[in-house]
Amino acid sequence: MSKPTAIPKQVQEEAAQLRTQINRHNHLYHSLAQPEVPDAEFDRLFHRLEQLEQEHPGLVTPDSPTQRVGAEPLESFSQVKHELPMLSLDNAFGEGDMRDFDQRLKNRLEDEADLTYACEPKIDGVAVSLLYENGRFVRGATRGDGLTGEDITSNLRTISSVPLRLIGNSHPSRLEVRGEVYFPLATFRRINAEAEQQGEKVFANPRNAAAGTLRQLDPKLTAKRRLTMFVYSTGLVEGELPGHHYDTLQQLSTWGFRVNPLIELATGVDACLTYYQRILSSRPKLDYEIDGVVFKVNDLALQRRLGQVTRAPRWAIAHKFPAEEGVTTLEDVEFQVGRTGAVTPVARLAPVQVGGVTISNASLHNMDEIKRLGLVIGDTVVIQRAGDVIPKVVSVVADKRPKKTRPITLPKVCPACNSALHKIEGEVIVHCSAGLKCSAQRKRSLSHFASRLALDIEGLGTKLVDQLVDEGLVNSPADLYRLKEETLVELERMAPKSASNLLEALEKSKQTTLPRFIYALGVNEVGEATASALATHFGTLAALRSADMEALQQVPDVGPVVAQEIRWFFEQQDNQRVLDDLLKEGLAWPDVPVVRKAPLAGQTYVLTGTLSTLSRQEAKAKLQSLGAKVAGSVSTKTHAVVAGEEAGSKLTKATELGVQVMTEQELLELLSEHEEPAPQQT
Ligand code: IVH
Repeated sequence: MSKPTAIPKQVQEEAAQLRTQINRHNHLYHSLAQPEVPDAEFDRLFHRLEQLEQEHPGLVTPDSPTQRVGAEPLESFSQVKHELPMLSLDNAFGEGDMRDFDQRLKNRLEDEADLTYACEPKIDGVAVSLLYENGRFVRGATRGDGLTGEDITSNLRTISSVPLRLIGNSHPSRLEVRGEVYFPLATFRRINAEAEQQGEKVFANPRNAAAGTLRQLDPKLTAKRRLTMFVYSTGLVEGELPGHHYDTLQQLSTWGFRVNPLIELATGVDACLTYYQRILSSRPKLDYEIDGVVFKVNDLALQRRLGQVTRAPRWAIAHKFPAEEGVTTLEDVEFQVGRTGAVTPVARLAPVQVGGVTISNASLHNMDEIKRLGLVIGDTVVIQRAGDVIPKVVSVVADKRPKKTRPITLPKVCPACNSALHKIEGEVIVHCSAGLKCSAQRKRSLSHFASRLALDIEGLGTKLVDQLVDEGLVNSPADLYRLKEETLVELERMAPKSASNLLEALEKSKQTTLPRFIYALGVNEVGEATASALATHFGTLAALRSADMEALQQVPDVGPVVAQEIRWFFEQQDNQRVLDDLLKEGLAWPDVPVVRKAPLAGQTYVLTGTLSTLSRQEAKAKLQSLGAKVAGSVSTKTHAVVAGEEAGSKLTKATELGVQVMTEQELLELLSEHEEPAPQQT
């Protein structure tokens, strides 16, 4: 422990001011999405505060914005008894239920006047409670069974939209705020893509991912995943709050909480039903999952008069969206051939409405999945659709199996080109062996070439691609650029206007970027991110085409398997011809500045103890600028632990695991070895 020394008043004031500013900018950025200053200014304030806290350790308080990710992993979560139970909601499944609910309230209040409701999207996440004492976040808990939850304070602290200290000083002395923690859909997809890449279990949906992440014992893992939250009510309050729910939410927003901007007031049940329809139709555009809307009597005095039944308040209801599951019959199974030749079964279903959309096809993934489901043609099946993903068959209703059924059998040859199928040992997917000689693979490769993240050729959808290939007009991507208006207008369902639009879109697509072009080629294992990494590493298509295995593996995240796929692709004579043809047709892109491979890429460092010449933040930034990762805990994957003065448990762990330990001096030497990388020749 450092000896407590008096901290100059001026320093204390500067730190307090910095915290106020940082909290305010954090709120503007994370809760209101209205930043007032550029990121660099925020970083400057943050670093200054870190510096002051480093110089004067006595300044550090648990609610300082620098302390979001400070906590060490826990052994287990402790229990929290909610002072006021966290209630659940009754459900309404249609207009009738909603009208009944509204009438019930009027009867109870003995007043037929229209009621005013606060209308809110019902977020499909995880309910949590946040407790503030004198404006400081002191404890966060899960809902649990409503009476007792788990203490997940250190995890909740890592969420940027959870204020550690409330803005201003007009807040109650004790205040419990409740809300829903969730993953934005884009973040959810990223986490699952990463999990898949690392061979880890993927989450079934964003809610499971949020629940799993909140129950991580190591808050550093939670911090990495970037959860967010909306608040929707208060719990325990010792102090003054407005007399209406809607005003309370606005008040919470001024104290720094994130409140859903779609919350509105509506008077009368008809206005509520209109709100419901509006949110239902904007649902696909939201970047989070919702499963209905919640209506709450706005006047808190009326809420008190209405009271609650055992587990739910009388004054609120959840109007749920139609089920995203449906039941129908499996009429047939067809086998589709994808871009890489993978042959996958697709269920043809009797059309059924699921969540307002008609479904007649669903993915079955592979033969193992069919076996797992125990599926035969003629079965009654449960299908599920979640947001924008392709619907899938989730189970068979066994007791509805008809007498006459047909087994599902894998075709012996490719259903598109009759070539032999092959299966790689240990893999579940079978492939057509004909490559681009198979018309199905050609079609899907062309569709990929034209897709939004590739050359983005507007108007060239899968149907048109199929037509062009079937008519023998297009075989390779280069053929697209040789299409003539007079040929196109001859096609069925092709109006002259569409033909000229397509030619215009094709012309436009010739000006592209190198990452898009590389991605468009559809090399196995080369997704958008790898295409981009290849482009920045090699700078030109010529350099990439001639790169050998060793050169390819210098690219971040390119290992031997990916490198092999890339080499194989560029060695094929057919592919070489297509590339030359495309360049001849005038495809071009601006030069890409080459970025040298980061010398410490792939290495993870852990910093522990006090460093004397660098702040931890500086050391971290320098390591990161050389491509290293800096982690908060030691594992066998750690490349080295940098141990400063008074290093504790992390140093012990490193020694136990046999992880390399470096002194501060050794770190400085490592950094200076790589400083100022020589500019790369292009
Ligand atoms: S109000 C007494 N508002 O839905 C008030 N809940 O089925 C109880 N939820 O456990 C909650 N969005 O996890 C409320 N805008 C919203 C909500 C919401 C999602 C969840 C919450 C609750 C469950 C109730």
